Amino acid sequence: MPILQLVAEYHRPLILKRYQDRLAGKDVPKQYSFDAIRKDGVIRHTEISAQQISFKGKSGTMAIIRDVTDRKKGEMALEKEKNRAEAIIESIGEGLFVIDEDNAITAINRVALDFIGAKESNVLGKKYDAVFVTTDESGANVLDSIASVVNKSINLCSGFTEVNNIYLRIKKSHNVIPISVCAAPVIDGDEKIHGSVVVFKDVSEEQRLSRAKSEFVSSASHQLNTPLGAIKLLTESLLNEDYGKINEKQKEYLDLIHNSNVRMHQLVHELLDVSRLESAKLEFKPVNINIKEGIEELIKEFSLLAREEGQEIVFTPHLQDNEMIRVDHIYFFQVIRNLISNALYYSPKASRVFVELTKNAQAGEYKISVKDSGIGIDEKDRKNIFTKFFRTDDAKRSRTEGSGLGLYVAKSIIESLGGKIWFESKGKGRGSIFYVTIPIRRI
Ligand SMILES: Nc1ncnc2c1ncn2[C@@H]1O[C@H](COP(=O)(O)OP(=O)(O)O)[C@@H](O)[C@H]1O
Ligand SMILES: [Mg+2]
Repeated sequence: MPILQLVAEYHRPLILKRYQDRLAGKDVPKQYSFDAIRKDGVIRHTEISAQQISFKGKSGTMAIIRDVTDRKKGEMALEKEKNRAEAIIESIGEGLFVIDEDNAITAINRVALDFIGAKESNVLGKKYDAVFVTTDESGANVLDSIASVVNKSINLCSGFTEVNNIYLRIKKSHNVIPISVCAAPVIDGDEKIHGSVVVFKDVSEEQRLSRAKSEFVSSASHQLNTPLGAIKLLTESLLNEDYGKINEKQKEYLDLIHNSNVRMHQLVHELLDVSRLESAKLEFKPVNINIKEGIEELIKEFSLLAREEGQEIVFTPHLQDNEMIRVDHIYFFQVIRNLISNALYYSPKASRVFVELTKNAQAGEYKISVKDSGIGIDEKDRKNIFTKFFRTDDAKRSRTEGSGLGLYVAKSIIESLGGKIWFESKGKGRGSIFYVTIPIRRI
């Protein structure tokens, strides 16, 4: 059978030419591919290796033909997959680079290159911390903040995002740009970690908006503070009958005005605290205070309110009378006040709130616990309790008023004072215990 009949029609001229060239002694490739027709008429990709031989005095061509259709399909699929992966990496709007176990960059996309103004060839194979130099906000070098994200993702064996406080120094322009970074380990089939994928983006705009928002909140709260203060003073003098006798109805309405005013004042103060916290403008003025007496006074403040609801606050100090701590008086007690007020607020009438004060010399701290038998906190809300504006559905149902700022502010304050805050609750309707610690400092 003429060999050409095996060849797909469109490849016949090629094969014929190669054959003639080989006969003519020309240099032709020994191995190449073409499409062949199988017995059943199906076209298959093949690879041919052909060679001039002489056999028993006659010369001829020996050809080995191998069906490579499946291999080729596999290669094409692989190539397609690779192109797809590359297209994805290139098209995401974020900077992306991949590092190996030795922290050398093995791949990087255009956005990342544009960001630092570098060429791919100058970056591949280099350690990533030599390419991406991180700083703090002022531009002072901070040893590798990206590494902390990468390490966290490797330790947790999952993707990890850290948004805050990472700044990249752009060598060319000397600019410092805030970024958010997310890293995920590269894990292969045998579950081994072979490096990381790091994705980052410029968050300058987010940061600018967030600042603008904080400034707005701060200035609006300041503006509100003064008239609210004036209303408070004036209603108090009217209630005091400084300007003449008032009748029962007038007193009732003035009381309502006064209470609403107190709530608004409280809210404005919380907003001011939040904006001070966020612009790091909380100023602490540590003074020596008798911690036990301080808490007793605070409880006295609440006793009238508690009595109106038939509630009682039971205080048990487990330490000597004269223990002094050095701490910012106003902010520290603001935290405790918040916990006691929540305990009363989120508990039924005629319930009791238990406050305990203990000293743990070994841990070097005082611990205050505030325990109630109120609405409790569901496990699903645990992670949100200290976040800004968060209120549980139960809390909203039982008490419509509340800003969800108190605990957020309390946590920021107590952590700035070197302490901790947390809570325990057996769940919905089963009460809560909030804890605060504050370090013992020598005076
Ligand atoms: N003692 C408590 N018992 C049950 N839930 C509480 C308690 N304290 C705080 N919470 C929950 O935490 C949320 C946040 O508290 P907080 O920041 O003080 O805000 P607010 O009291 O203004 O809602 C509350 O809305 C409530 O859902
Ligand atoms: Mg509260």
